[in-house]
Amino acid sequence: KKFEVACMPGDGIGVEVVPEAMRVLEAVAKIHGGLMFSFDTFYWNCDYYVQHGRMMPEDGLDRLSQYDSVFLGAIGDVTKVPDHISVWESILTIRREFEQALNIRPAKIIQGVHSPLVNPKDFDLIVVRENSEGEYSTVGGKMYRGKDEIAVQNNFFSRRAMSEAMHYAFDLAKKRKGHVTSATKSNGIYHSMPFWDEVFQEVSTDYPHIQTDSQHIDALVAFFVTDPSRFDVIVASNLFGDILTDLGAGIMGSVGIAPAANINLNGKYPSMFEPVHGSAPDIAGKGIANPIGQIWTAKLMLDHFGETELGDLVMDAIEKVIQSGRTTKDIGGTLSTKEVTVEILSELNNY
Ligand code: NAI
Ligand code: MG
Repeated sequence: KKFEVACMPGDGIGVEVVPEAMRVLEAVAKIHGGLMFSFDTFYWNCDYYVQHGRMMPEDGLDRLSQYDSVFLGAIGDVTKVPDHISVWESILTIRREFEQALNIRPAKIIQGVHSPLVNPKDFDLIVVRENSEGEYSTVGGKMYRGKDEIAVQNNFFSRRAMSEAMHYAFDLAKKRKGHVTSATKSNGIYHSMPFWDEVFQEVSTDYPHIQTDSQHIDALVAFFVTDPSRFDVIVASNLFGDILTDLGAGIMGSVGIAPAANINLNGKYPSMFEPVHGSAPDIAGKGIANPIGQIWTAKLMLDHFGETELGDLVMDAIEKVIQSGRTTKDIGGTLSTKEVTVEILSELNNY
């Protein structure tokens, strides 16, 4: 089997961590034998913008669409391009044009990482966030009511998008602990959230063996911290998912290890895999960025390709390296970016 991957290292530490994750993928392909990756690297970043006046060539999306997936580092260098241009014209354009309707973010506390939680070992979950509609809609506007200036913001929830996100969550739960929590707020949000609950109820009937739970988002965030053992897979709207996933990354101990995936469900375009962190200009060029966020993101890509056993191997190697303190400074170690990768590769070689 051969997977063709378009790599976009991007800016800052993106160019430092993407090659490390590619080394891990190549090592994994060797272990498997019958598997191959072909990588094409596209340096479409803020330097490209300075030279060409745009973040990607005109046929950039067409070219990316030929691949099985896009593997992105991070975009952003405000010394060259304002963030709203660089991020909008690259990442956000790809997410929208490639109809990546879901954002998936696992969050887990790995033993050895300092976490603010009381029961850190219980924190191991995946948030499935609807990524295309919900609260982040453009329906509404500014207006006047009498002399008072007001803004009306309408949420936009389609049965199709909700149901797709929920099915994805239930299918994931089948491969995990068999539990799905719906993040709702139907006690306060009058139209959309009762509809969300209704669709969740309907979808759940397709999965009689999966346990379900519905939690109002305010209570849910508290349980995230006080009793995370309640959670396995959480399905959430765009806004609720956004907040939950950043909370999850915070609880994990460092943004440098948090992974993410933008999933295309209709098969028309590739999905995109990118860590949660940005280009980290404060540490770029020093060789000390944590490569684990990018490597864990590569594990999500393996899972997406159906190679879950290999994904588990990578995860296992990540955990061993962190547990034994062979890490970068952000999670308490002293190693460089490349040294951490070497440790992960040596764990993989033990298989
Ligand atoms: P950031 O995630 O780049 O950095 C936040 C803090 O976390 C910094 O102190 C940084 O040193 C640290 N950090 C991040 N990744 C790390 C790693 N792998 N290892 C060790 N420490 C790490 O977020 P910030 O500073 O808000 O944004 C910087 C630039 O990145 C901006 O231009 C922003 O627009 C862009 N950005 C891009 C994203 C993307 O490409 N998806 C996401 C977030 C920000
Ligand atoms: Mg966010």
